[in-house]
Amino acid sequence: MNTQNDSSAAVEARKISFNVETKTLLNRIDMRAERGSFVGLIGPNGAGKSTLLRAISGVLRNQEGAVWLEGSELSSMPTRDIASMLALVPQIAPYTQGFTAFELVLMGRYPHLGRFEIEGQTDDRIAKEAMHLTETEHFASRTLETLSGGERQRVFLARALTQQPQVLLLDEPTSNLDILHQLTILGLVRNLVDEGLTAIAAIHDLNLAARYCDQLVLLSNGSVLTEGKPEDVLTSETIELAFRVKSFVYREPVTDSLAISLIGPAEGAEAESFSSNSSATNLGTT
Ligand SMILES: Nc1ncnc2c1ncn2[C@@H]1O[C@H](COP(=O)(O)OP(=O)(O)OP(=O)(O)O)[C@@H](O)[C@H]1O
Ligand SMILES: [Mg+2]
Repeated sequence: MNTQNDSSAAVEARKISFNVETKTLLNRIDMRAERGSFVGLIGPNGAGKSTLLRAISGVLRNQEGAVWLEGSELSSMPTRDIASMLALVPQIAPYTQGFTAFELVLMGRYPHLGRFEIEGQTDDRIAKEAMHLTETEHFASRTLETLSGGERQRVFLARALTQQPQVLLLDEPTSNLDILHQLTILGLVRNLVDEGLTAIAAIHDLNLAARYCDQLVLLSNGSVLTEGKPEDVLTSETIELAFRVKSFVYREPVTDSLAISLIGPAEGAEAESFSSNSSATNLGTT
């Protein structure tokens, strides 16, 4: 029977499986995020990170298993209740032509408004504060299509913060950001987590994941390969197993965080990676 027995989890997923036709995208995934913790999802392209975030957010349909959000089973919660507790910043920003950055951020208030209620001064203030925190206020009146990739990514984070969620899901939040904003945005999430937010983020940069996250979940082929504290998950053995890359893991003396030096592809991995990408082999042959 599906019962949650540990109330310290903000998110608990049990035996999540998801198939598309004959392909298994997620295979009996168990994971949990303690309230007030920052969990990083790591793993190679196609491992299932985005699919798992979608499953936890309630966007995915027809998944097997169960997800609890702050003790309530997700499948029994109305969409608006989910949105008032959880925000997802997707990997690929949805199509939003015509809206200004401020209008988009203000949309984050929607789950907190009554049926025919329009946004008021408090909602404006919350949206402005989120734009201040994400350093997006100076392009508040610009339409989204005029913003750069990194600027847009920060605007979508501002919208998620405007939702004032208890659980924040981030899919590659730093993928388009310059190095300053990688640090400030993950630092911002870290501060919010220290104040009680629960965050789960898919992150490709293993150094950033090790530095900012409390726990890591390493996914491979739709399954959890290993999970735990960054120093337990990020070993040169697990990195080679999951990513087919030789690495050296050490403690970086200036920041005292775990750091990974990438030495190169593991034996045979390079040839395998090119031969599995048939479109690359077709390039330039016509
Ligand atoms: N609708 C679909 N039909 C078939 N395959 C799908 C579908 N959606 C996702 N997949 C496949 O499922 C796998 C997992 O996708 P997912 O987007 O979760 O990976 P990811 O770990 O987020 O990868 P990335 O690091 O590239 O973002 C991929 O191989 C993807 O091609
Ligand atoms: Mg992804």
